[in-house]
Amino acid sequence: MKAKIELNNKTILVTGSPGFIGANLVLRLLRELKAGTVISFDSMNDYYDPALKQYRLALIEEAAKASPVEHVFIQGNLADKTLVDEVFSQYRPSVVVNLAAQAGVRYSIDHPEAYIESNLVGFFNILEACRHYPVEHLVYASSSSVYGGNKKVPFSVDDKVDNPVSLYAATKKSNELLAHSYSKLYNIPSTGLRFFTVYGPAGRPDMFYFSATNTLSKGGTIKIFNYGNCRRDFTFIDDIVEGVYRVMQGAPEKATGEDGLPLPPYAVYNIGGGQPENLLDYISTLQEELVRAGVLPEDYDFEGHRELVGMQPGDVPVTFADSEALERDYGFTPKIDIREGLSAFAEWYKAYYCNQ
Ligand SMILES: NC(=O)c1ccc[n+]([C@@H]2O[C@H](COP(=O)([O-])OP(=O)(O)OC[C@H]3O[C@@H](n4cnc5c(N)ncnc54)[C@H](O)[C@@H]3O)[C@@H](O)[C@H]2O)c1
Repeated sequence: MKAKIELNNKTILVTGSPGFIGANLVLRLLRELKAGTVISFDSMNDYYDPALKQYRLALIEEAAKASPVEHVFIQGNLADKTLVDEVFSQYRPSVVVNLAAQAGVRYSIDHPEAYIESNLVGFFNILEACRHYPVEHLVYASSSSVYGGNKKVPFSVDDKVDNPVSLYAATKKSNELLAHSYSKLYNIPSTGLRFFTVYGPAGRPDMFYFSATNTLSKGGTIKIFNYGNCRRDFTFIDDIVEGVYRVMQGAPEKATGEDGLPLPPYAVYNIGGGQPENLLDYISTLQEELVRAGVLPEDYDFEGHRELVGMQPGDVPVTFADSEALERDYGFTPKIDIREGLSAFAEWYKAYYCNQ
């Protein structure tokens, strides 16, 4: 059972907005809610082109003008405990969605400190703040990468995930463990969401579909890892936002155990389409949609711009979400297929980069 959380008239803190997922969530909240305050908190770091974050922030500020909901943007670092405490003390958020993190598997090879700072110290600061300024629900981003090289498919939240194959995955699994202890000790309702490869308009340029588009549009050749023998559960951004939006409104219920102490109001879900796509099919669809949108020429030589190479460290050959629990508890399974999702991305890419 879930405790119903009314989002209207509340203060909602979204960290990692205007990051990709955070910005889209805040846009949804500004469109949907009738009253309240939404706070975006982000360091605006330059892990990828900060102009994209400024662009998303401009969309948020535009949407805020037409919304009855107040929007506040705070630029700061989650690892700054004093600042995080100040934000909680001043705004007393009822619902916190922690999406700020150092993302990406490959970057963790050369920049491990960034993961410790944002994903461990930063997340710890959020937990401490939720302890001292109680919240109705803490929702936070975990990742499908916690499944590592899990052989059993689809990946279920009941699977044992103690074998991360990247530091990024290790920090995300640590977040789930830390959240469990805080849920138990301080009765903080928390829900972790394992997102499966999220893509869409104004997404992250470090991700394959986006960097491949950059390369192809300049006439370059893309590297296809593991010789294309990868299957990924790709999830379109609108499906992720729908999932997060629903989850925010249903917190794990508080209950007391036989020992008279709180049972941890704690849950973890997958959010992924549950329909893994072969990487080569995904790339073909991407190329077709880029041609259709006018990013690539009509007579584009697909085969001539692909190079099949081996596996990269930290990567996994398959991701496949078992979405049953999300469907059971929140009545939702992602539905948008790659044709529709990549078409939206290609249209956006054309308008953003090619028409400027
Ligand atoms: N996009 C995906 O495919 C995917 C998959 C699994 C999990 N996730 C997780 O979802 C969340 C959002 O991902 P995204 O794709 O929107 O990434 P993103 O990089 O676009 O957004 C994250 C934001 O967090 C901010 N940030 C990083 N460290 C910070 C810090 N210390 N203090 C304040 N802000 C900080 C960044 O500036 C960025 O804007 C992340 O936690 C990520 O690990 C994403």
